[in-house]
Amino acid sequence: MPKKIKGIIPRGKPRMRDTLPAYSPAASRGVVNPLLPSLAREIKRRYFFSPLTRLAINSKKTRAENGRMFNPSVLTAVPFFNATRQIKELGYELTSAIQRVLDSGKFVMGKEVEAFETEFSSYIGMQYGVGVNSCTDALKIALKALGIGTGDEVITVSNTATPTASAIREVEATPVFVDVDEYFLMDVLKLEAAITKKTRAIVPVHLYGQGADMEAVMKIAHKHHLKVVEDCAQSSGAMIGNKKVGSFGDAACFSFYPTKNLGALGDGGLILTHDKLTADKCRALRMYGMEGSYHANFEGYNSRLDEIQAAILRVKLPHLDVYNQKRQEIASRYSKEIKNPLIELPRTRPNASHIFHLFVIKVDTRERFLEYLKTKGIGYGIHYPTPIHLQKAYNFLGYAEGSLPRTEANAGKIVSLPLFPELTEEEVDHVIQIINDFT
Ligand SMILES: Cc1ncc(COP(=O)(O)O)c(C=O)c1O
Repeated sequence: MPKKIKGIIPRGKPRMRDTLPAYSPAASRGVVNPLLPSLAREIKRRYFFSPLTRLAINSKKTRAENGRMFNPSVLTAVPFFNATRQIKELGYELTSAIQRVLDSGKFVMGKEVEAFETEFSSYIGMQYGVGVNSCTDALKIALKALGIGTGDEVITVSNTATPTASAIREVEATPVFVDVDEYFLMDVLKLEAAITKKTRAIVPVHLYGQGADMEAVMKIAHKHHLKVVEDCAQSSGAMIGNKKVGSFGDAACFSFYPTKNLGALGDGGLILTHDKLTADKCRALRMYGMEGSYHANFEGYNSRLDEIQAAILRVKLPHLDVYNQKRQEIASRYSKEIKNPLIELPRTRPNASHIFHLFVIKVDTRERFLEYLKTKGIGYGIHYPTPIHLQKAYNFLGYAEGSLPRTEANAGKIVSLPLFPELTEEEVDHVIQIINDFT
C-alpha cells in the first residue's frame, strides 16, 4: 500500500499522485531513508520544473498510466478533447486555490475576481477588465455599454458560434453578416460594402485561435465612426504582429468555457477595454445596473464571474503561453506530416500567431471521412455545421442560401481534429497516420 507522506500536502484528501511508496526497512538497511530521494524528486517536480517540462513529464505519465496508449501499435482511440489530463497535472495548485476561496468565505465579487481582472488585462495589454459569467454576456454587456441598441446594425460573420449573433440580438440590434476570407476570418474587403446608415459597430471574430485583420477593421471603423468589439472567445493569447488579440478594439470579450485555451471549470467570461467609462458601465451592467449601492441607475443584469472560477483561472493563466506553444507544436506536426491530397490544411495569416484553439481541415468527401474517423476511434468536431444566417432562429433576418458563398461552402467541408496541449506524441502520430491512410 502506498503510504501518505505528511508535510508536503497542506490539506485535503491526498490523491494517488500525492502518495509515495511505503517505507521499507529492508531496502533502507544501513543507508539513508529511501523515501528522501523520491520525496525530493516529487518536490522538485512540483515546484522547480518549468511548465513545459511538467507538461512533458505529465504526457509521459499519461502514457505510462494507460497501458493501451503506451504502445502506439495498440492505440485504439484518440479523444477530441480531454479536460481531466490538465486538471490532473495542475491538481494541487487547483485544489489549493479552491481551498483558498472556501477559507475566505466570499464566493461572489471578491478579491480573486478583482485580481484576475488585473492579471488578465495586463496579460492582454488592456487597461480595464470586467469579469462576467460568459463570453455571450461579455458581448452583450460590452455592446450595451458602448451604446449599441434597438435598430442598430452590427457587422459580424456567420461562421462563428451562435452566441456571437445572439448577443447582438440581446441588445435588440441586428446582425449583418459578411463572408469570410481564406483563413476562415472576416473578409475585410467585403466590410465597407456592408456598412449602412444604421451600422454602429463591428464584431470581428478571432476564430479557431487566429486573429482577424484588425489593422484593416480599425481603419474602416475609424473612417465610419463605428465601435469595435472583438470576439476573442477562441483566441486567448493569440498575437497579431506584436500585440495580443483583444487589444485593438473599443472592447474585447473572452470566454473561459472549459474547452477554451484558457478554460475554467465552469462558465466564465471577461470584457477588456481601455476606457474607464466603458469599464464602469460594464461593471454596473453585470450587477443589476447598480454602481455600488442598492440603487439601479439603469437596467442591468446579473452576470458575475464567481470567485472559485476566478481562482482557477489565476492558476491557469501563468501556464497559458506554454499551453498555446504546445498547441502550436502539435499543429505544426499536423501541417507538416499530414500528406493526403484529399485533405486541405488550415492557413495562418502572415504576421499572426495562430494558437490553434481548433485545427480545422477541409475535406470534400466529409461524410465518408467522418465515418472513417469514427471506425478508427478518432474524435472530431465540426465548427460549425450550419452558418448562423441559415439557422432556423435567424430566418427572420432574411438571408437566402448562397448569400455568403465561402462561408456556406466551408460549412459542408470543415472538420476539427483532436488538438489540446496534453495530447501525447503517440496520439498525434496515430491521428496523422490514420488521416494519411484515408483514401
Ligand atoms: C466565437 C465565440 N463567441 C462567443 C462564444 C460564447 O462563449 P460562452 O460560451 O463563454 O458564452 C463562443 C463559445 O463557444 C465562441 O466560440
